[in-house]
Amino acid sequence: MSGASGATFPIRSASVVVAGREGAWIAGIEPWASLGYSAAALRRFLRRAASARQVWVASATRAGSPLGVLVLQPGVLLGDFVALLAVRPEAAGQGIGRALIAHAESRTFVDRRWLFVSADAGNRGALAFYRKLGFVRVGRLPDLVRAGHTEILLRKGRAGRP
Ligand SMILES: CC(C)(COP(=O)(O)OP(=O)(O)OC[C@H]1O[C@@H](n2cnc3c(N)ncnc32)[C@H](O)[C@@H]1OP(=O)(O)O)[C@@H](O)C(=O)NCCC(=O)NCCS
Repeated sequence: MSGASGATFPIRSASVVVAGREGAWIAGIEPWASLGYSAAALRRFLRRAASARQVWVASATRAGSPLGVLVLQPGVLLGDFVALLAVRPEAAGQGIGRALIAHAESRTFVDRRWLFVSADAGNRGALAFYRKLGFVRVGRLPDLVRAGHTEILLRKGRAGRP
């Protein structure tokens, strides 16, 4: 939970109410803005995921407002899947994304082999971020989210297995 700057970002499970509030700013940033997600659709998705205890938020203090959001779906292809990862633009570059992925790894690798993520092929920043954290590209998923857009599937293995 420690960022590159040495700051720590406590991570907690989000309630349905807390998770739902995060839909609006996420809809306003890339890649969700270009992919055409509405705040209402993201709010519904986050509320549903939170009711299954799949939403985690990182903040500057233990009960602080969320600076980053992770949705971790279990039981996908012998592993878990990061269905959403978003850090508020004003809080980017402080290690929050890294801390949320480390949290996902600590849960997944207790009893599963793989942690999967996917990112839009045009999302160079996210692809560089995931590569830096040890994820390896394993597939292309054309037209998955929107016609004409390709998602890149990446995975990281338990104990550094690619
Ligand atoms: C991509 C994202 C999750 C990264 O989170 P973050 O908190 O800014 O990243 P961190 O500060 O934890 O960075 C971890 C490492 O990745 C690198 N990194 C982060 N963003 C990067 C980028 N855009 N390009 C290249 N490298 C990047 C950092 O330099 C850092 O490496 P270092 O420790 O060697 O310096 C965040 O910028 C974000 O939410 N982007 C918009 C939504 C998105 O694209 N989500 C993911 C795909 S769906």
